[in-house]
Amino acid sequence: MNKLTDTRTLTNGVKIPVVGFGTWQSPDGEIARDAVRCALEAGYRHVDTAAAYGNEESVGEGIRLSGVKREDIFLTTKHWITDRGYEKTLAACEASLKRLGTDYIDLYLIHWPCVEKISPDWAEINLSTWRGFEKLYRDGKIRAIGVSNFLPKQLEPLLKEAEIPPMVNQIEFHPGYTQPETAAWSREHGMLVEAWSPLGCGTVLGDPTVNEIAAAHGKTAAHVCIRYALQKDAVPLPKSVTPSRIVDNANVFDFALTDEEIARLDAMPKTGYSGFYPDDAPADAL
Ligand code: A2P
Repeated sequence: MNKLTDTRTLTNGVKIPVVGFGTWQSPDGEIARDAVRCALEAGYRHVDTAAAYGNEESVGEGIRLSGVKREDIFLTTKHWITDRGYEKTLAACEASLKRLGTDYIDLYLIHWPCVEKISPDWAEINLSTWRGFEKLYRDGKIRAIGVSNFLPKQLEPLLKEAEIPPMVNQIEFHPGYTQPETAAWSREHGMLVEAWSPLGCGTVLGDPTVNEIAAAHGKTAAHVCIRYALQKDAVPLPKSVTPSRIVDNANVFDFALTDEEIARLDAMPKTGYSGFYPDDAPADAL
């Protein structure tokens, strides 16, 4: 792990760059477009968006403006809760492809699970969405498929029936909130763990432990958070719309956290937690 373009390998052999560029809360229009373009010019080759972020068109535009070839970029988008079920999933993917202006997606994720609180048929509903994912994968529209914000209890029934198992689980993960059980379970079942909000939406950056460790290395708190995810075998997806931060956040390959520092970060009290807990299906309540 020496540079942004180094990769990890998913169970189907597809390679995914070790750091992705996050776009959650990047406003649609020139802000998201210029951020993506800036990230690609700075050397990122992995971009993460979602239908629900409302910025897929701008992300697509940023990619084209960067001049980086599409095949050199790993592009993730996510399926939204209003599109659950087989037919709607197929249509949702087409709509994302159109908005992004591309004819394939590298990684497509179910953004949030359907859960018991929402419907007694939650497991069937998730499976029916997944059947759509399997079809899109077999049709070559998607190079890899996975989930986001799933707990083991929501993954269990899906894995029993899946013909193609999920390759990724993207979860909230940062110092102060790492969901160790979900991360371990996902890995045991073949999924790569991706870290959304690796900076805790920015709030972890003021934490004294994170800053002490940063000072010891002459690095920033953001570097420590991104490096923490990398060393914990998660793929961090730091978001920024600020060019200087986009560029600087990539400088995480010239230092390493010690085991003791990792242990201190592991032991941090719950900090920077978004409040989005999968089992409560907060997204369904939006
Ligand atoms: P901005 O986009 O205005 O630059 P996360 O990736 O955990 O969701 O965190 C994203 C938040 O962290 C955004 O508010 C972003 O602000 C902020 N951020 C990203 N990089 C840095 C940095 N290097 N220093 C301070 N804040 C940062």
